[in-house]
Amino acid sequence: MSGWHKRVESAKLLKKRKFANEVHDTDMVQNRFFYNRNLRFAFLGTLLLFISSCASGRLDPLKPVGQNAKDIDGIMRLSAWMAIAVGLFVGAAVIAVIIKFRVRPGDDPDELPEQIHGNKKAELTWTLIPVVMLLFLAVATIPSVFDLHDKGDGPTIQVTGQQWWWQFSYDLDEDGQSDIITSNEIVIPVGQEVNLEITSNDVIHSFWIPQLNGKKDAVPGRVHHWRISSPVPGIFYGECTEFCGLSHANMQVRAVALEAADYKIWQESQLAKSSIPTGEAAKRGYDLFGVHCISCHVINGVYEGAADGNANLASGVAPNLTHLMSRTSFAGSLFELYNEDQSVNVADLREWVRNAPGQKPSRPENRQGMMSFAEILNGPELDDIVSYLQTLGGKPPLMPS
Ligand code: CUA
Repeated sequence: MSGWHKRVESAKLLKKRKFANEVHDTDMVQNRFFYNRNLRFAFLGTLLLFISSCASGRLDPLKPVGQNAKDIDGIMRLSAWMAIAVGLFVGAAVIAVIIKFRVRPGDDPDELPEQIHGNKKAELTWTLIPVVMLLFLAVATIPSVFDLHDKGDGPTIQVTGQQWWWQFSYDLDEDGQSDIITSNEIVIPVGQEVNLEITSNDVIHSFWIPQLNGKKDAVPGRVHHWRISSPVPGIFYGECTEFCGLSHANMQVRAVALEAADYKIWQESQLAKSSIPTGEAAKRGYDLFGVHCISCHVINGVYEGAADGNANLASGVAPNLTHLMSRTSFAGSLFELYNEDQSVNVADLREWVRNAPGQKPSRPENRQGMMSFAEILNGPELDDIVSYLQTLGGKPPLMPS
């Protein structure tokens, strides 16, 4: 029966069914799927496209850059090659046995081969070989496991997971107070092992920048020590890898590695406090910000008192925006803050301020994500706020390439 006939038959069958309930709906999908060649090809094509997208490079643990990531990659490759060798050996042995001991013409089909059940030599061999292999892997793995938990020579940065973005705090003088608070992008000096103290402000998240190190969970009420390093300047991409609610998939992160001199410049610029803007539109935006935004967002120097009265914590729920423009992305690193020509991505920024839940699934009524201002702010007001936002901080030290 040709594919077309099958489809006609299947359609006739479906017509006979006078009622449609869930079971029949499933049948219909299955029939259509199996009888329709185009659908099958479309499915395979999509699957291939999906698989190939895994190799985009932005989240590629197979291209490690930092030493920690390289250590993990080395162990992964060693165990993969050992597994491949075992797989090949077992596969070849099975084929060899099938060929060598096949039933030949004239053999008695009822005759059993020699039974070796309880053969000590064989039992010992296939017990000892895996034991030796696992011991070998353990010797290669265990030092790295401990090594990855050692304290590094670089600065310590507090990492806090939030629904659905990351906050980074730098306590430069170690007095227990954060001196720099930023979000979405963790800035680190090149060539140093940066110590991370990872925690969470709400649910469990997991911090992962694959080219710099493996994953580390962010658990409320606990501090997990971890470290990252990069031998070269650059921007490295990451994702939250623990399901943390509605916008888990939109909780991205970037590490920006800077040469020592640039890192110092960045640090000094981040210490600067904000002041009231001079431009007319920006000043109007500043006033509007004071009405609508400061119950969640802090801006050091001008709007510090809000956010549960604790400016040091940046806020219970939202990023500190003092140096917003010095980042390359916003909204959990979901959107680029700059266009390719390095102009500000005003369109996305304005739309985000207007209707954040429309851009990124969230539950603002539950303090999970930013609320919508679509019914609160009119067009000119939105423009003014975006004008004000553009005065916050200097340009990013590195732009994505
Ligand atoms: Cu945070 Cu998933």
